[in-house]
Amino acid sequence: MSERPYILLSCAVSLDGYLNAASERRLLLSNDADFDRVDEVRASCDAILVGATTVRRDNPRLLVRSEARRGQRLARGLTASPVKVTITRRAELDASAAFFTTGDAERIVYCESTAVGPAVERLGAAATIVDAGAPVDLHGLTKDLHARGVSRLMVEGGANVLTQFLEAGLADELHLVVAPFFVGDSRARRFVGDGQFAWDVDHRASLAEVRKIGDVALLRYALAARFGGE
Ligand SMILES: NC(=O)c1ccc[n+]([C@@H]2O[C@H](COP(=O)([O-])OP(=O)(O)OC[C@H]3O[C@@H](n4cnc5c(N)ncnc54)[C@H](OP(=O)(O)O)[C@@H]3O)[C@@H](O)[C@H]2O)c1
Repeated sequence: MSERPYILLSCAVSLDGYLNAASERRLLLSNDADFDRVDEVRASCDAILVGATTVRRDNPRLLVRSEARRGQRLARGLTASPVKVTITRRAELDASAAFFTTGDAERIVYCESTAVGPAVERLGAAATIVDAGAPVDLHGLTKDLHARGVSRLMVEGGANVLTQFLEAGLADELHLVVAPFFVGDSRARRFVGDGQFAWDVDHRASLAEVRKIGDVALLRYALAARFGGE
């Protein structure tokens, strides 16, 4: 059995490859049908991970929205929504954020060693704080999640976190949704930053599926031999 969860990366980008706007305004890239598809994927996972900047900027709830899917999870003996996970160096997170206050599932904050004290003080009542080393070791983090019973992990962004998972080879599957408009402002965040990736001109990723969902396109890539399995 593998020591880490099956890892699925998921995000939406503009036609010019951005996953947010340059302003603080939250940019909605998907449409309702695609949000429902994402909800289905969320419901199939044991945990959802986002970076601390996404928690601060978007204030996401990270819950399964569909009553039917919540009910199916409960019937399987699970919580209605998956465990919520974030990573931080500075632990400058607000315990009143939706990440910490909504839903019935556990929240886990993987925190760089230097900020564990403040993290426990600020967030200890709302989340499990894990000392994740200095610097945070993503391989260790995924192993720890696996030991906590997470066998399927969804990583929902942002760019910083997605880049690290891709660079570290901790990605079995990528769901990339392309929205039909441009952001046109290089101050916005691209889907991935600079990095060394296993997939380059000589090592092309395998495109497993292309799906039209209303006005967006879902590109589904198999990034590892484990693709599709657990
Ligand atoms: N279009 C989409 O599908 C989508 C999805 C999600 C997010 N987004 C957008 O993405 C933007 C945020 O992306 P981002 O790239 O700026 O940030 P991010 O990836 O959400 O978070 C980055 C932060 O996470 C923490 N972090 C990441 N890796 C770490 C490590 N190895 N060790 C310790 N801490 C670590 C750090 O937090 P601290 O600063 O606390 O130390 C870092 O500043 C938002 O605007 C959001 O709207 C878009």
